[in-house]
Amino acid sequence: MNILIINGSPKKKGGASVFFSKILGFMLFPQKVMTKTIGISRNYENIFTDLKSVEIVIISVPLYVDGIPSHMIHFLQQMEQYCINNKCVFMLYVISNSGFIEGHQNQAHLEQYECWCERAGITWGGGLGIGGGVMLHVIFYVTLLLSIIQFVIGILINIFFAKLAVNSILVFSFTRSMMVWLFFSSGMLFYEFMLAWAIKKQKVIKNKYTRAMIPSFIFLIFADIFMALEALFHGKIIFSLYKKIDYTKNAE
Ligand SMILES: Cc1cc2nc3c(=O)[nH]c(=O)nc-3n(C[C@H](O)[C@H](O)[C@H](O)COP(=O)(O)O)c2cc1C
Repeated sequence: MNILIINGSPKKKGGASVFFSKILGFMLFPQKVMTKTIGISRNYENIFTDLKSVEIVIISVPLYVDGIPSHMIHFLQQMEQYCINNKCVFMLYVISNSGFIEGHQNQAHLEQYECWCERAGITWGGGLGIGGGVMLHVIFYVTLLLSIIQFVIGILINIFFAKLAVNSILVFSFTRSMMVWLFFSSGMLFYEFMLAWAIKKQKVIKNKYTRAMIPSFIFLIFADIFMALEALFHGKIIFSLYKKIDYTKNAE
């Protein structure tokens, strides 16, 4: 069975959609899985050529303004035409991830792909809506980094001091970090596993919804801190936001 995973995030590198599609790709083992990225190039030829030869297509895509991101709408319009002209017969599954914590935020988004399938004559396989996508993605890398640091410190202590008691505490912290990540991500891992199982059996499933396993009021605190830091590091420096803009210059 040939499977194509399409990453629908406009981000050049990384991103939550890529993260979730990698986990699914891992769970689909030993099936042959190809992965392609749409980006914002508007050149989809290298993706379309594979559509004729695959049985399954999975789109992993972020939720933008409660619906399909605009670059994705362009892609779907082109893909619809290609599928009709070339009589494509694959099944489509979609993973939609959102910034907000509730998985059901993705409901309308998944239904839009279902409607697209009807229009393009493609079989809708089912969808998975993941709430708190950014958090699950970031927590994974933070936990991984902490675990590696703890592991390296453990080895160094072992080499230089051989203090076994301290060492076992570090091994415990490492295991604890991994367990915390597994707990936060348990819903996502479980439903991705179910999706992988359905894909392998080529079964149509009902849309499923899951989230980061954290109470919403705690999520809000961390999400606010994270967004403020993101804005500071990736956005404009705070003082430049108060700069006076010369609009007459732009109009010329
Ligand atoms: C323009 C824009 C609109 C968004 N709209 C929503 C939204 O309506 N609801 C929501 O929960 N998250 C929204 N988000 C957050 C993204 O869905 C979230 O950050 C997602 O994990 C990004 O996935 P990516 O890293 O694969 O691009 C929006 C993000 C952007 C940039």
